[in-house]
Amino acid sequence: MIKKKKNSFSVHFNKDYPSIVRGEGIYLYDDQGKRYVDASGGPLMSNLGHGLKEMAETIYNQAVKIEYVFRMDFTTPEMEAACTGICEASNGVMDRVFLVSGGSEATETTIKIARKYHIDAGNPSKFKIISRWMSYHGMTGGAMNLSGFPFRRKDYTPYISNNFHIPPAYCYRCWYNKAPETCNLECANALENEILCQGPETVAGFIAEPISGMSLCGAAPRLDYFKRIRQICDKYDVLLIMDEVLTGFGRSGKFFAYEHFDTPPDIMALGKGLGGGYFPVGAAVTNARVVDMIANNSGVFAPGHTWAGNPMAAAVISKTLEFLEEHQLVQRSAEMGVYLARQLEALHSHPTVGDIRGEGLMRGIEFVKDKETREPLPPEKKFWMVLHELAQKLGLVIESSFGCDRGQAGDQVMFGPPFIVTKTQIDDIVEIFDKVLTQAEKQIGF
Ligand SMILES: Cc1ncc(COP(=O)(O)O)c(C=O)c1O
Repeated sequence: MIKKKKNSFSVHFNKDYPSIVRGEGIYLYDDQGKRYVDASGGPLMSNLGHGLKEMAETIYNQAVKIEYVFRMDFTTPEMEAACTGICEASNGVMDRVFLVSGGSEATETTIKIARKYHIDAGNPSKFKIISRWMSYHGMTGGAMNLSGFPFRRKDYTPYISNNFHIPPAYCYRCWYNKAPETCNLECANALENEILCQGPETVAGFIAEPISGMSLCGAAPRLDYFKRIRQICDKYDVLLIMDEVLTGFGRSGKFFAYEHFDTPPDIMALGKGLGGGYFPVGAAVTNARVVDMIANNSGVFAPGHTWAGNPMAAAVISKTLEFLEEHQLVQRSAEMGVYLARQLEALHSHPTVGDIRGEGLMRGIEFVKDKETREPLPPEKKFWMVLHELAQKLGLVIESSFGCDRGQAGDQVMFGPPFIVTKTQIDDIVEIFDKVLTQAEKQIGF
């Protein structure tokens, strides 16, 4: 049979992708009737589960009421309600929200807000945003500058103009060869060195994921890391920006992951789960200090995108907030996350499982060749891809990632099912993954 030509770009051009026609709860169904357990919510995005009629109705009802107005001309009750809802979810720690259409747009907007703050504060020389190696903040130009994920940016380095990166907070493979029990938070102190070398008068902000997403699959810093970071930021008038695109809205078992560290940022980026998985949304959120500086000085923040603040996205955000509250899903993410972590522990019996980490319903595994030395697997084995392929064959959707060891090696997977996942479903996920791992290890010669 002659294959019909596809007109879509896919990640791997020579791979046949199953065509999904339906979803329900944590399950996806393809056009051949095969069922997949969505153990990662796509890229840790589908927080509420698939096929929710009330989310579809929200989109329909908004579209027939008013589908779009431009933020240069109007506001809408839906946009105001969504922004208020986000600030209330932070218990008033955050004060003002700029709605956009995705995570990269959100991180880009945080840079512009930080820059604008310093211009309006009378410090126009401050423009640099320091970030961390082994981080991910998106794929648009500005976001790529921030991202320290070598694997994802290597083809585009000619477009990367700013490189102000400090080492990651990555205890399993500490860049200072220290252990978290005895270290002096060298990875946090590195920020002070970088600010001083750059010149404090040039540094506008520092951005970090509170708990790492796909670049380090759930790696979290020592609990006092962000307190130290905050001290350094305040000392040099550098704004603390947290990228909560993946962690925000309950994924880490708390509404915002900064709560784990008791250190709210000045500016925060949101995306993914902000729309429950039903609409492309993102947000740059600021505290009162930052927004008041702009409001009371130039009084203008012009950068915008055509779809910024559209009422469809806003209605979905408010509905997502309502759904999370009604079904106590943030608490559930915490509880099911503990259960998932406990069940995953059994996988330590596999020869390649080096580290299992994460919080809430974002749990990662890093694989190694040698558990003692933590030597990574040979990169040419492409273990991360083998796992992904085998899992899909066995009807399991997981996210996998490469390059946690300074971009040269390091295979990982991440689990992040929708928050409605049950204990029995978690048992199924771990059982299928156990089989996947056994086959994958055999395939690469273990
Ligand atoms: C922490 C983090 N920031 C930013 C982004 C970029 O978001 P988007 O893909 O919606 O542009 C992602 C996406 O994976 C992410 O995980």
